Amino acid sequence: MPTLNDIRSTFLTYFEKQGHEVVASSPLVPRNDPTLLFVNSGMVQFKNLFTGVERRDYQRATTSQKCVRAGGKHNDLDNVGYTARHHTFFEMLGNFSFGDYFKDEAIAFAWELITRHFEIPAERLYVTVYHTDDEAFDIWKKVGVPEDRIIRIATSDNFWQMGPTGPCGPCTEIFYDHGDHIWGGPPGSPEEDGDRFIEIWNIVFMQNEQFEDGSMKALDMQSIDTGMGLERIGALLQGSHDNYDTDTMRALIEASADATSSDPDGSGKTHHRVIADHLRSTSFLIADGVMPSNDGRGYVLRRIMRRAMRHAHLLGSQDPVMHRLVPALVRQMGAAYPELGRAQALIEETLRAEETRFKQTLDRGLKLLDDEMSSLPEDAPLPGAAAFKLYDTYGFPLDLTQDALREKGRTVDIDGFDAAMAEQKAKARAAWSGSGEAADAAVWFDLAEEHGATDFLGYDTEAAEGQVLALVQDGAAVTKLEEGQTGWVVLNQTPFYGEAGGQVGDTGWLRRLENEDEQAEVTDTQRMGGGSVLAHQVTLTRGTLSKGDALQLEVDHARRTSIRANHSATHLLHEALRRALGDHVAQRGSLNAPDRLRFDFSHGKGLTAEELQQVEAEVNAYIRQNAAVETRIMTPDDARALGAQALFGEKYGDEVRVVSMGTQTGSGKGTNGNTYSLELCGGTHVRQTGDIGVFVTLGDSASSAGVRRIEALTGAEAFAYLSEQDQRLAETALELKAQAADVPSRVRALLDERKALSNEVAQLRRELAMAGGAGQGSGSEAREVNGVKFVAQVLSGVSGKDLPPLIDEHKQRLGSGAVLLIADTGGKAAVAAGVTSDLTGTVSAVDLVKAAVPELGGKGGGGRPDMAQGGGASADNADAAITAAEAVLKG
Ligand code: ALA
Repeated sequence: MPTLNDIRSTFLTYFEKQGHEVVASSPLVPRNDPTLLFVNSGMVQFKNLFTGVERRDYQRATTSQKCVRAGGKHNDLDNVGYTARHHTFFEMLGNFSFGDYFKDEAIAFAWELITRHFEIPAERLYVTVYHTDDEAFDIWKKVGVPEDRIIRIATSDNFWQMGPTGPCGPCTEIFYDHGDHIWGGPPGSPEEDGDRFIEIWNIVFMQNEQFEDGSMKALDMQSIDTGMGLERIGALLQGSHDNYDTDTMRALIEASADATSSDPDGSGKTHHRVIADHLRSTSFLIADGVMPSNDGRGYVLRRIMRRAMRHAHLLGSQDPVMHRLVPALVRQMGAAYPELGRAQALIEETLRAEETRFKQTLDRGLKLLDDEMSSLPEDAPLPGAAAFKLYDTYGFPLDLTQDALREKGRTVDIDGFDAAMAEQKAKARAAWSGSGEAADAAVWFDLAEEHGATDFLGYDTEAAEGQVLALVQDGAAVTKLEEGQTGWVVLNQTPFYGEAGGQVGDTGWLRRLENEDEQAEVTDTQRMGGGSVLAHQVTLTRGTLSKGDALQLEVDHARRTSIRANHSATHLLHEALRRALGDHVAQRGSLNAPDRLRFDFSHGKGLTAEELQQVEAEVNAYIRQNAAVETRIMTPDDARALGAQALFGEKYGDEVRVVSMGTQTGSGKGTNGNTYSLELCGGTHVRQTGDIGVFVTLGDSASSAGVRRIEALTGAEAFAYLSEQDQRLAETALELKAQAADVPSRVRALLDERKALSNEVAQLRRELAMAGGAGQGSGSEAREVNGVKFVAQVLSGVSGKDLPPLIDEHKQRLGSGAVLLIADTGGKAAVAAGVTSDLTGTVSAVDLVKAAVPELGGKGGGGRPDMAQGGGASADNADAAITAAEAVLKG
C-alpha cells in the first residue's frame, strides 16, 4: 500500500516527466497577496503568473503545497474532527500551466495519472463540468467517460476563486464513488454532502480575473491550475474513505492516544482526530513564523491551538500534551518539509507555553460553562454574556465554546456575544480617550475597533502586498489622498515597523498594484489606537491613494538594515556593560536609528577609558562570533526563568518575544546559561551577529542622575567614522611635518629679530645716555671753560665702544667745543674725549684723555686730536678725572 509520502512523490514525478518544474511549497503566510490570511491552495504562489504580471523560465510547474483553511473564504475549522475529510491543514498536489497547455491536456494528464498510475477503476469515477462548458464536456466524452457520468453544475462549486479578488475560472472536478455502503449522493444531488461521492481532483481553467469592484475580465492567457488533496487520494489508495485512516494521520492519532493513555478508536476518537489535525496546522504555522496572539493570523493560530487543547483535556490529560506529539509529526513529514525539523524546538516550546497558560483557566471556564448550561432550559442557547465572559476572562475563543456546546447539541447566542464585545470596547474607549493621548486619538481608536490590529509581516520580509483599510488626514478619516498631499495610511498587513522600544519607524514606498507609477513615499511608521494600528505617514509623490487600493509595500531596505544592526548591537552592548560594570546595569532608554544607537543605563559614575575599551572590544568579539540571532515566543515567567532582562517601557501581554544572540566564551559568567545576550524585545534584528559589521563607541556621558549614556555606531557608519579619524590623524601628522620643515627658517627669523632688537636696545641706551648722565659737571649741558664749550658726563649702562658715537653726537650738537665722557662699566672705567675740528689747533683730545686716565687708575690713552680713548680701573674718581681734563683746557 503506498504511503502518503509515496503518493506525493508519484504525483510530482509524473508531472516532472511531463515537462513540469517541481517547485517547493511556498510558506503558509502569503507574501504576495494583499487579502489572503493563509495560503489555501497550490495556485497562490503562482497568482501573478496567471495574470501575466510575472514571468518565470518555466511554463509548467508541479507542487505539493501546504494549505491552511481556518479563516477567510475557505474555512474548515468547525468541521474538523466530525467528518471524514475536513482539515485545517492539508497538502494540495497540483499541476500548473501558465499559458501553455489548456483543457485537453489537463484532462488527459489527470485521467492518465488516476487510472493508469494510481490504478483507480474508471467505473468508480464521475466528473462535473461548469454548466456552460461544452468543451470540457466533449473532452471527457472523448477520454471515455460515459455521458451519464459527466454532470453539469451551475453553482459556484464549479467556478473556482482563490479569494475576493484574483485569477479564477470554471472548473471540472473528478469524483470517486466509495460505494453504497456509505451514505451520500453524486454531485448536484440532494445527498451530495455525504461521504460516498468524494471530490478527489479539481482542474481549474484559469481564464478570468476578479476585481475589487465586482467586475470580472478575461485574462490574455489561458492557464491551468489543479488541486488534489493528498489526504483524500491517500485514503482512497489505502482502501478507505476516511482521511484520518491514512498512514500519516493514523500515526499522529496513535501518538495522541499514547500521550493521553487512551484508546485511539474508542469514545475519544473525535478528540484524537482534532488533535492530529490541529497538531499539523499549528506546527506548520509556527514553522512559517506565525506566533499565537490576540489578533489577526496569530489569533487564528491560538484558536486552533486552544481547540486542540480542550480536546486533549477532555481525554483526561493533566499536563500539556501537544508538544509531546511534535516528534511524531517530524518523523512523518520532516523529510518532505525540512522546515518542520528546523523549527522543532520552537514548535514544542510554543505549544507547551500556550497549553500551560491555557490550562490555568480551562477547568474553571469549563465549569462555568457547565453551570450556565445546567441552569438553562433544554434547548436555549448559551447567553452571549456568558460566552463573552468565557472569552474575556477564561481565554475561550468563541469557536471553542461553540465546539464544546456542539457535542451537546447546543448553540451560542452570537448576537448577545457581539453586543457584550461591543460594550466592552466602548468602555475601554471611554477609559482610554480620557488618558490624554493626542487630540486625534479618537479616529485611531475607531480604526482599531473596526479593523483590529495590523498584521505585522516585517520580521520575515521587507516587501509584501497590502490593502488600504483607511486613510487619515488632519485627524479625520478620508476616502482618498490626492497627489502631493500628506496623510496616514492604515493597511491590513504591513512589513513596516512602527516605532517602539527605541527602534524608529520604517520608511519606504507604497506603489499601486494596478499602476506602479503611482506611488507614495512613507516617511514614518507609528503605532496608533493604543498601539495595535500601524499607521504609515505618507506623501503622495505621484497619483492618488484610495480606500481599498491594493498596494505593493516596500521598506527602505538599506535603512532598515542599519536599524537592525544598531538594535542588535544595543543588545550586545547591554550585556557587555553588565559584565564589565555589574548586574546593577539596567536599560533606562535607547534609540535605534539608521545612523547611530544610543543606550542609557543605570550606573553611578563615568566609565574609565579602560572600561569603555573593554566593552567595545567585547561587543566586537561577539560580532565576529557571527552567531545566529534567535527569536522565540514564551510566557513571561519562562522568559524570566531563562534570565531575560526586562526592557524599559515595554508592556507585556500574554507572551513575550525573546531575542537571544551569541554563545558565551571565556571565563565571563552571565545569567543566561550558554547564551550571551537574552532580552525581551519586539524589534527587528540581524540574522547573524556578523551582520553588524563593526561597533565603535563615541564615548560615554551623563544622561541624568545615576544614568549614563553611550552613543555608538555600527557597520558603514562606524567604518566611515574610523576612516575619518584616520584621515584626521594623517592630517595632523602632515601638519607637524610641515612645521618641522619650517624650523631652520624660523630660527633664522628669530635670530634676525634678536639682532634687530639688540640694535634697538643699543640705540635706546645711547638715547638714554644723551638724555642724562651722572657725576660732577654731569649733564649734557655745556659750560664755558676758558672760552671753550665743554661737556663732561659720567655714564652708566654703556660700554667703552658706545662712547665714540656719543662723542660725535655731542660734537655735532656743540658745533664748537670739547667733550669728555666716562663710562662706568661696573668695576672698570672707559674714557673718551672729542674736540671739534675748529679747536684741534689749540687743544687735543689726546691730552684730555691722558689727563683723565691717571685719575681713573689707568695709564696712557691715545687717539687723534679730535677723538681719543683710554681706560681705567674704576670710575670712582670720575670727578677728579673731569677736573684734570678741565685743567688741560684752562691751559
Ligand atoms: N485551486 C483549486 C482548488 O484549490 C485547484 O481547488
